[in-house]
Amino acid sequence: MTQTITIIPGDGIGPEVTDATLRILRAAGADLKYEVQLAGTAAMEEFKSPLPEQTIESIRTNRVCLKGPLTTPLGVGFRSLNVAIRKEFDLFSNVRPALSMVPGSRYEDVDLVLFRENTEGLYVGVEHFIGLGGDPRAAAESVMIITRHGSERIVRSAFEYARANGRKKVTLAHKANILKCTQGLFLDVGREVAKEYAGEIDFEDRIVDATAMQLVVNPHQFDVLVMENMFGDILSDLIAGLVGGLGLAPAGNIGKNEAVFEAVHGSAPDIAGKGIANPSSLTLSAAMLLDHIGQVDAASRIRSAVGEALKLPQNRTADLGGKASTTVFTEAVLKHLK
Ligand code: NAI
Ligand code: MG
Repeated sequence: MTQTITIIPGDGIGPEVTDATLRILRAAGADLKYEVQLAGTAAMEEFKSPLPEQTIESIRTNRVCLKGPLTTPLGVGFRSLNVAIRKEFDLFSNVRPALSMVPGSRYEDVDLVLFRENTEGLYVGVEHFIGLGGDPRAAAESVMIITRHGSERIVRSAFEYARANGRKKVTLAHKANILKCTQGLFLDVGREVAKEYAGEIDFEDRIVDATAMQLVVNPHQFDVLVMENMFGDILSDLIAGLVGGLGLAPAGNIGKNEAVFEAVHGSAPDIAGKGIANPSSLTLSAAMLLDHIGQVDAASRIRSAVGEALKLPQNRTADLGGKASTTVFTEAVLKHLK
């Protein structure tokens, strides 16, 4: 059955990388219908809101969304639109794969998937300043919130993903040696969940700082990784760096009912409108979306066509050290989908 998905082209380079991605989706034979909705700066003029109700309703109805980068306009009552979308749909699982695609990058054959808890930890933003001796900002405090429920569902998503995708091992990264309550709870819950998969999927836990070093020294020892919000924020960018940077990094934000797949990079105002953006991040996010809805053939066709196109230096965009335009790269991908 043809699935309707919500498309948010977004701001800056968003519309350019979205156009390229839609061409690639069509050529790959993805069985999709598109409902284009506005958000971000692009929505302000028409709706006087960066996150119009009709965009939210579209995602709620279609349950699956592909989203370009959004610029959060100042003074609209949102700290971040991306956070607002995650909150609206309780998208607790941020999935960030890192797959080698560009020959000659730092590593070959990296194939990792990182699960980041998306709703808790320090990023709940419970913080304040403390005044002392006339200095209103003499100190500041921030509260890390970890719950059994939140920890369990993210660790379980990592294991379920491992099971569904034939992965061998889940590594839980933490700092339970120092933060015995918050990180200790996350680790305890992780160990409990891991027991349910014993004999099928290996489990290990590691201190997060050592994990960071080991990821750089030998990424091949890892497979699926899971961690709380801030550690996941940092290490997911680290693993993107292992395979060629943010221009290649896709992401999924997955909840119980809805899922929003998005480019990891921002709206890149410095290159917007120049036709030189790399659409791969959004295109590979679209491939994740196809996997999510069971159109796995189209997904793998897209991934291999992007990989084939990137093999030739003349197809690479500036972020990868090349000179290709968005169109040249896109045409190269399309050629491999014929
Ligand atoms: P950015 O990711 O937009 O740009 C950082 C650098 O990477 C720039 O030099 C840019 O030209 C380059 N770049 C990014 N994506 C690229 C691509 N696909 N191809 C080639 N080069 C690329 O980050 P920045 O400048 O910090 O943020 C710009 C705006 O984007 C801000 O308003 C920020 O709030 C927003 N943003 C939105 C995100 C989202 O919607 N998921 C994520 C990050 C930032
Ligand atoms: Mg980040």
